[in-house]
Amino acid sequence: MATWAVWVGSVRKGSYNAAVARALPELAPEGMSFDVLPSVAGFPIYDADLQEQGFPAVVEDTAARIAKADGLIIVTPEYNYSVPGGLKNAIDWVSRFPSKPMAQKAVLIQSASMGVFGGARAQYHLRQILVFLDARVFNVPEVMVGRAQTLVTDGTLTDEATRGFIAGQLKAFAAFTESFKS
Ligand SMILES: Cc1cc2nc3c(=O)[nH]c(=O)nc-3n(C[C@H](O)[C@H](O)[C@H](O)COP(=O)(O)O)c2cc1C
Repeated sequence: MATWAVWVGSVRKGSYNAAVARALPELAPEGMSFDVLPSVAGFPIYDADLQEQGFPAVVEDTAARIAKADGLIIVTPEYNYSVPGGLKNAIDWVSRFPSKPMAQKAVLIQSASMGVFGGARAQYHLRQILVFLDARVFNVPEVMVGRAQTLVTDGTLTDEATRGFIAGQLKAFAAFTESFKS
């Protein structure tokens, strides 16, 4: 059975991105399993001096789980037209891990935002970051969930059209991740 690791860029209790992430198992092709990675809130601010003393346990754990997964799905808000600092910081830590768990990894980006563009600008900044990590980022179809506050009800992604788009994207991502298996 294939496994996808899921990383959420928001740490907010009522996060719309977390709501999208929670919907993924229901929308994925049958037989897919999911591993929700540790909250980015648990990563200390990146510090090379701290790294020299040994990677924090949360970094080791996250890196190992990304390495093991067949694909990684990052679901993130857009902050000030870019990637939230907490997510960038967590990615920075994992990028320093010697085994380079993101290299050659199939990665899917999703975003949800209260604005009409659905976090599109954060997605393109995240793509740029993932170039240096040598990740294999899935291209199309893209999922940018705009006006998320109108599509999520009591923490559940209820909008049928959005659920349909995501299901279609996950089907295509399953084929993409499969193509990386030799
Ligand atoms: C610091 C900050 C910056 C934001 N910048 C943007 C932005 O550039 N574009 C956007 O669409 N929404 C922006 N928002 C609004 C977010 O889309 C909204 O807070 C969203 O609910 C965050 O995702 P979450 O629900 O998963 O926490 C910003 C919110 C914060 C707190």
